[in-house]
Amino acid sequence: MSRRDSFRQLGAAAPAILPSLLLCDFSNLEREIARLEEAGAPGMHLDVMDGNFVPNLTYGMPIVQAVRKLTQLPIDVHLMIRQPERYLSQFRDAGADLITIHVEAVDDPRAALGAIRDLGIGAGIAINPGTPFDQVTDCLNACDLLLVMSVPAGFGGQSFDRTALDRLRQARELAGSDLLLEVDGGVNSDTIAACAEAGAQLFVVGSAIFRRDDYRDAIGQLQRLAVLGGG
Ligand code: DX5
Ligand code: ZN
Repeated sequence: MSRRDSFRQLGAAAPAILPSLLLCDFSNLEREIARLEEAGAPGMHLDVMDGNFVPNLTYGMPIVQAVRKLTQLPIDVHLMIRQPERYLSQFRDAGADLITIHVEAVDDPRAALGAIRDLGIGAGIAINPGTPFDQVTDCLNACDLLLVMSVPAGFGGQSFDRTALDRLRQARELAGSDLLLEVDGGVNSDTIAACAEAGAQLFVVGSAIFRRDDYRDAIGQLQRLAVLGGG
């Protein structure tokens, strides 16, 4: 399977619960990835933050590369960095199957999405809750995935912003069924069914997995609720 197709596995696995590794135990990454795989996670979501586009600072290519060595599953890299164009090929080389950039972080989103696609991987565009939705509508036919943020990008553990639900519905109406819809932030057992009902296929989850002892229970429960919501 080509790199560009491997992220499509995620669409085929929908509803797909993607653990956001921000809250995992980085002192034992190998064990964490193994536990998530055993729990049925269909891919890994990695949050890269630069301390500039967002106030928080996390990790970069070396961690993506480490995760790549530990799993064959698709790796979904969410870049919360200004001018991500500078680093796209490095993230692809580190192992990203899909790179999502923020519409607020680039001057020419369509060009940046084209540059990601030219690397032979999936291209996603993310939009924060406070950004007018029409800023992203022009990009929908230039990308593979729309990430509707349901919290302002930057930190795990924030509460779900319900305006994301209208945005998901609007995106589904505007774009064809080829566009993958992902939601990120405050997704938990209280909010996931509504996201699925609004059309989300990929669900990024941090706290609602890592604050639980049993990842299999957590992912299984979320998956069941997403199936019910989507049905
Ligand atoms: C927020 C990140 C999220 C976040 C999800 O900027 O993109 O992936 O860590 O965490 P929870 O599920 O705790 O909101
Ligand atoms: Zn994220």
